[in-house]
Amino acid sequence: MTEPDAGCPSPAQAAGPRVVITGASSGLGEALALEYARRHPRAVFALVARRHDLLALVAERLAPATVRTFALDITDRDALNDAAERFVAEFGAPDIVIANAGISAGTLTAERADAPVFRRIIDVNVVALFDTFAAFLPAMRAEGRGTLAGIASVAGIRGLPGAGAYSASKSAAITYLESLRLEEREHGIRVVTIAPGYIRTPMTAANHYRMPFLMPADAFARRAVGAIDAGRSFVVIPRPMRVVALVLRALPNWLYDALFARAPRKARITGGST
Ligand SMILES: NC(=O)c1ccc[n+]([C@@H]2O[C@H](COP(=O)([O-])OP(=O)(O)OC[C@H]3O[C@@H](n4cnc5c(N)ncnc54)[C@H](OP(=O)(O)O)[C@@H]3O)[C@@H](O)[C@H]2O)c1
Repeated sequence: MTEPDAGCPSPAQAAGPRVVITGASSGLGEALALEYARRHPRAVFALVARRHDLLALVAERLAPATVRTFALDITDRDALNDAAERFVAEFGAPDIVIANAGISAGTLTAERADAPVFRRIIDVNVVALFDTFAAFLPAMRAEGRGTLAGIASVAGIRGLPGAGAYSASKSAAITYLESLRLEEREHGIRVVTIAPGYIRTPMTAANHYRMPFLMPADAFARRAVGAIDAGRSFVVIPRPMRVVALVLRALPNWLYDALFARAPRKARITGGST
């Protein structure tokens, strides 16, 4: 874990919101950081991801904000807790924690080779969601305020063929975040669930099929930060995908099966790592 940083006024000088973002080295996490920095030039950031070089580049683009980078694997609970402790010791409890880090790949239950991929997707997209919030929650509860935001997906509304792990992970994220929202209500902590449709990022660059309502990452970030700051409980972005999500949820199985059995499938990872 490292923290070479851009813009280092003392904590006393730092007046903006304290924002923690996981998966901040690319895609949505990077766009969310840039959007917060645009709205709050004096914000204080904790940026978390594995690729330190990319985190450092994002940190530079957030100037004059104060930034600490934590290059770690989000499934390493000890490293995550250590990073949270260090951030809280320096700046106090965060105002906003965005658990955004996630991975995606096709998985098929009939393929034995997909078993570790399935497990990894659940570890990163679900278990680490819990660990991220758990690392910061005691400090936030002590102050009786703050917002926890989780990035789920429209893919979690129904099970998509060829994406059992990803759909299951995002479905689990949606219900987990709902439980958390109810648990934290009495402690003054807001919980926001964001379900993106298709957003242009390195993750979707791997999809070689048509992606309806594909949205640029900066436009996503503007809407997402608006929803987080407003404390919305659940938001689908972009807006037309909200209608898709509502229809998907309402479809009876016979119709859903007929429409989606031949839906395009995510590529499986063969011999690669996530
Ligand atoms: N793009 C979309 O259309 C879309 C739609 C629905 C939901 N989402 C969700 O949005 C989130 C961000 O995705 P994205 O599209 O921005 O993809 P991305 O560009 O691939 O970014 C994923 C981020 O997660 C980080 N990450 C992955 N595994 C990690 C690990 N083990 N430890 C720490 N960080 C890790 C990556 O950083 P390192 O590789 O440096 O660790 C990267 O910063 C994900 O949860 C994804 O499921 C995206």
